Amino acid sequence: MTNKRDQLILGIETSCDETAVAIIKNGREIIANVVASQIESHKRFGGVVPEIASRHHVEQITIVLEEALRQGQLKMEDIDAIAVTEGPGLVGALLIGVNAAKALAFAHEKPLVNVHHIAGHIYANRLVNEMEFPLLALVVSGGHTELVYMKEHGHFEVIGETRDDAAGEAYDKVARVLNLPYPGGPHIDRLAHEGTPDLDLPRAWLEPGSYDFSFSGLKSAVINTVHNAEQRGETIAPETLAASFQESVIDVLVTKAIQAAEEYKVKQVLLAGGVAANKGLRTALTTKFQKHEGIELVIPPLSLCTDNAAMIAAAGSVLYEKGQRADLMLNGNPGLDITIHNNWG
Ligand code: KG4
Ligand code: ZN
Repeated sequence: MTNKRDQLILGIETSCDETAVAIIKNGREIIANVVASQIESHKRFGGVVPEIASRHHVEQITIVLEEALRQGQLKMEDIDAIAVTEGPGLVGALLIGVNAAKALAFAHEKPLVNVHHIAGHIYANRLVNEMEFPLLALVVSGGHTELVYMKEHGHFEVIGETRDDAAGEAYDKVARVLNLPYPGGPHIDRLAHEGTPDLDLPRAWLEPGSYDFSFSGLKSAVINTVHNAEQRGETIAPETLAASFQESVIDVLVTKAIQAAEEYKVKQVLLAGGVAANKGLRTALTTKFQKHEGIELVIPPLSLCTDNAAMIAAAGSVLYEKGQRADLMLNGNPGLDITIHNNWG
């Protein structure tokens, strides 16, 4: 049920291979959440093909929008503002969502709020638990691996990021070497639980005190291990490789997240992004943070970890309240910086 005083935000997300529209009430309650995934179309190419992604978004966007309004039993007149992913992502894919949002904003005279995709991933957590500041978000997706410090709503400070591959990217590349289907992350996760981490793989700690990450060395080490074994006519059990690789990734992510959470004296640690669906990572973080009194760990359900529009509407809700607005010149921006949100309000 909604009433006139409720704030209703319609979110649109098309940055990669999911066409998604959602409606969120008062920043925290999901009224409708529709995701049309294109994974099946990209699978046979072993990754996302940008042109195919754009075409699917064009075909799906109005269907997904109508379905979200139907689920919520709402009309466009009931909506307070339209939030849309401006970037980062594939430019042709972003453009479909941005243009749909602009057309709706223009036709229905609604405010338009531009949202950074990672701000959305972080705000997926607010659909689970209210945020308490200061907080730290561990963002692990296909394109990003970051530690983001937030002193208040809508203010993002990146205190560490990957210098090369994102965690999800490393998962997908290692999965390819093991001949697993795209996206590889969930397959490695499953295999890792069937094996033991017997291989000694590197962990890139970088300089003391740095919260940056690096996963390309680990990825190369896995590839070299597989090739060297092949040359000797041997095979290494994929379960052993997956378990060893996953242990190395999780060790670095969890250790750095705990160090940063302590140094920045945060009240909460939020997990965000597609790799947040990783069972090993969820378990390792839960176990470690159980020992930390005073720091609450928040982990979204699997459906809110991978790309969706509920998270974009959730972030859009606080940005709208802060007064952030985009005009009809808004464009998709593949290299958008999350700090664009910091100067509003
Ligand atoms: O956030 P997301 O849906 O898209 C981006 O914004 O990048 O993340 C997709 C990434 C892919 O690399 C996928 O392999 C990874 O998340 N992923 C996982 C798991 N589920 C999805 N990685 C590890 N373990 C998982 N269970
Ligand atoms: Zn994402």
